[in-house]
Amino acid sequence: MGAVRACSPSWATAADIPAISEINLAAFDTPLEADLVDALRADGSWTDGLSVVVAADPDGTLVGHALLTRCHIGDTPALCLAPVAVRRPERQGSGAGSAAVRAALNAAEEFDVPDEALMVLSLDASRPLPRGTVRYAAPFGI
Ligand SMILES: CC(C)(COP(=O)(O)OP(=O)(O)OC[C@H]1O[C@@H](n2cnc3c(N)ncnc32)[C@H](O)[C@@H]1OP(=O)(O)O)[C@@H](O)C(=O)NCCC(=O)NCCS
Repeated sequence: MGAVRACSPSWATAADIPAISEINLAAFDTPLEADLVDALRADGSWTDGLSVVVAADPDGTLVGHALLTRCHIGDTPALCLAPVAVRRPERQGSGAGSAAVRAALNAAEEFDVPDEALMVLSLDASRPLPRGTVRYAAPFGI
């Protein structure tokens, strides 16, 4: 991912925080996810560079967001992809969510600490899937 914003994903910066909040507020029925993203940003599970924004307009207006944070499966470090959000209703269904998820997964594959992702996607097929209780970052409240 590079600095080009139009119709492409990029790493979120501090300047994108208000837009990320707006996107999550628009995508979900309650402010829970927007608040969760803010809480995760302040939590030790946050990793700079694993928050992805997607712009769909030539002017760079941000319409989508996907977030990876650290979690554990048993004692194995893993990454949690959540939340994923696209502005509702006008921006959903046009590929922004897919672009955000693809970019996040590409970033996860290149991330040098966790080698597995939550649920169904192993990022390193040569290693066995971890077993055990999933421990999310505390702000998820799970
Ligand atoms: C889910 C979400 C991120 C998808 O983003 P999007 O830009 O609308 O999705 P895309 O246009 O990239 O579509 C990607 C695929 O997902 C499918 N899809 C989109 N929303 C879906 C939903 N709610 N349920 C099931 N499938 C869905 C699309 O049909 C498409 O499938 P296809 O490629 O086989 O045609 C977006 O709809 C959203 O913000 N929803 C509300 C928040 C949410 O539920 N987030 C996920 C949980 S954290």
